[in-house]
Amino acid sequence: MKSQRSRLDRFIVSREGIKRSHVHQLLAQGRILLDGLAAESISQVVGPFTHVVLDQRVLQAEQPRYIMLNKPPGMVSATCDEQHSTVLDLVSAPNAKSLHIVGRLDFNSTGLLLLTNDGRWSRGVSSPQKGVVKTYRVQLEQPFRSDYREAFAAGLYFAFENITTRPAEIRRLSDLSRGRSVEGRYHQIKRMFGYFNNRVLNLHRLSIGALSLDPKLHQGAWRELTLSELNALGVEHCYREVLPSGSDCPA
Ligand code: URA
Repeated sequence: MKSQRSRLDRFIVSREGIKRSHVHQLLAQGRILLDGLAAESISQVVGPFTHVVLDQRVLQAEQPRYIMLNKPPGMVSATCDEQHSTVLDLVSAPNAKSLHIVGRLDFNSTGLLLLTNDGRWSRGVSSPQKGVVKTYRVQLEQPFRSDYREAFAAGLYFAFENITTRPAEIRRLSDLSRGRSVEGRYHQIKRMFGYFNNRVLNLHRLSIGALSLDPKLHQGAWRELTLSELNALGVEHCYREVLPSGSDCPA
């Protein structure tokens, strides 16, 4: 995903098709407002959610969105698909088209799915370096074996990508299992059990970091994340309830 941040002069030049020297003029005349305050320097950073006004004309007014959704089975985690309905069809929010998915779930997997229009936040949540742990409840075809635990903790070799998975934790809960991992590779959990020829019958994501699926959300329902939930997750975000004056998410 390309960076959605740019210097003020580049932003105005590309939007308005004017020369850079003209931007200096506009700035000196106090005609550019960033989040309600007159811009002061051509090198100010315009983020994806900076409110930009030129001569009372709004050039950018995108609001950051952070959404939790309870994914039902039989839906594609994508923004569009020619054959099936996608999770985005469930979200009847303004600017829903600008949302993308933070860590997909397979077609028949269920549970916690995050959607946002903040690319930096989604990269932070998904990056294995940030160590945001995802928890899944898994139902297996064959009985759980105790040697899985050690193998998951040591990491499993995936020949296709030529990588060894990061340490993951797994616990047995009656006939189900609960697993924790920080990576989100293609079909990762299913492939990890597949290593032992044990098929995953059901896979349900319970949590992503400190964020648990809201039990009040029935399958297919969604809601906005709260400020305290975003803070608890510990990944830098741009949440704002109303436009504050003169501030943008840190550059
Ligand atoms: N791992 C999988 O195999 N499938 C999912 O949907 C999520 C993680």
